[in-house]
Amino acid sequence: MKTIQIRTEVPGPKSRALLARREAAIPRGPQLVTPIFAAKSEGAWIEDVDGNRYIDFAGGIGCLNVGHRAPRVENAVREQLGKFLHLCFGVTPYESYIALAEKLNALAPIQGAKKTFFVNTGAEAVENAVKIARVHTKRPAVICFEDAFHGRTLLTMSLTSKTNPYKVGFAPFAPEIYRIPYAYCYRCSYNLTYPSCKMTCAHHLEDTFRRVVAADSVAAIIAEPVLGEGGFMAPPKEFFPILREICDKHGIVLIADEVQSGIGRTGKFFAIEHYGVEPDIITTAKSLGGGLPLAGISGKAHIMDAPIAGGLGSTFAGNPASCVAALAVIETIEKDGLLARSTALGKRFEERARSWQKKWQLIGEIRVLGGMCAIELVRNRETREPANTEAKDLAHFAYEHGVITITAGTAGNVMRILVPLIVSDEQFDEGLDVLEAGLAHVAEPKQAALSHA
Ligand SMILES: Cc1ncc(COP(=O)(O)O)c(C=O)c1O
Repeated sequence: MKTIQIRTEVPGPKSRALLARREAAIPRGPQLVTPIFAAKSEGAWIEDVDGNRYIDFAGGIGCLNVGHRAPRVENAVREQLGKFLHLCFGVTPYESYIALAEKLNALAPIQGAKKTFFVNTGAEAVENAVKIARVHTKRPAVICFEDAFHGRTLLTMSLTSKTNPYKVGFAPFAPEIYRIPYAYCYRCSYNLTYPSCKMTCAHHLEDTFRRVVAADSVAAIIAEPVLGEGGFMAPPKEFFPILREICDKHGIVLIADEVQSGIGRTGKFFAIEHYGVEPDIITTAKSLGGGLPLAGISGKAHIMDAPIAGGLGSTFAGNPASCVAALAVIETIEKDGLLARSTALGKRFEERARSWQKKWQLIGEIRVLGGMCAIELVRNRETREPANTEAKDLAHFAYEHGVITITAGTAGNVMRILVPLIVSDEQFDEGLDVLEAGLAHVAEPKQAALSHA
């Protein structure tokens, strides 16, 4: 039986009624990607309040690598509910928090002693990583990248690149933040081409130290191993080794923000493992909690120990239900072979996307690192003009036909796939069939216009 079942127009009457209540009760600021209100979810599907069933290619923005209500996660949380909920780890500690820290320490691709602590959200994890780097180095500045997304709090919004909608009207931003180009090769800020560019973007850091901010003022360089919100761009293999070398030379802390790329999304537990580079600090969140809010900051023990006792923490940080859920997430990834599954899904996507690229000019670039997959849409392959309205139309077509997707990219012209890694081949293909139909719907009038020109 097909997973997708669309029984009403989308949004259906009950969703429309809830949408009206949402508009009356909730400000316009919080984002709204689809007008579909959920009633139930399981594995890789969501059912809405009108009885329509969708395949979920968004995973609540990358939070459900192990799927909706993953059985181990659900059981662990149920069991925890019967014991205790909130205590505050800082007041009355509990073992699951420690067990999870031990697990992440073991998994972090860093040699030597490591330590981890927990907060609630990805933004909080990034904030804390920066706080730790500043105490450790006794320096103020942070270098971040164009097209980065690190969150919506004052510091993380300041680290975030995309101005609209994330920064509109929210100035003044946090000080001592310096931004340089990322290795976004498809849209190189230096107009160079890899590999003849010889990684100018990474080496340019030394120039930044001369002309913008002195190296001995820089506490940290923070980078996503694969741009998330920025469009799923994975830099060439040399990029992170060069950053590592420069950080070592100047005593700068290298922070890998794995909030979106981590927890098995790319076929390795952490995306930075693809680069053979050891960061000093890694931030995690999203899929770590298997659907519950949880974020981690893991790093070299001597760096993590820099803040004084009591200098870090938060009331709900490392909530007991989230900690047992995260232990169940990691067990599921390990026991159910989800890293290999992530790689296999990436291959399956790439095959389909290549066939789309042959058919439609609209597909400028295909990006695949394990299950972190995307297509960047362009109006013209020569000019690479971002096809942002087309990406929006594709996402709209997709949900109307049973697939929940989200876009990405600073221009909003990237279609990203964050499907739960437990999706079956049949479900994944069903979802890809809808995307293919959507691409035909969006691309063919354009293609016709091009060929008549
Ligand atoms: C790379 C990255 N860092 C940080 C964040 C912020 O996480 P949160 O929304 O949980 O605060 C996100 C969220 O999308 C992200 O993708």
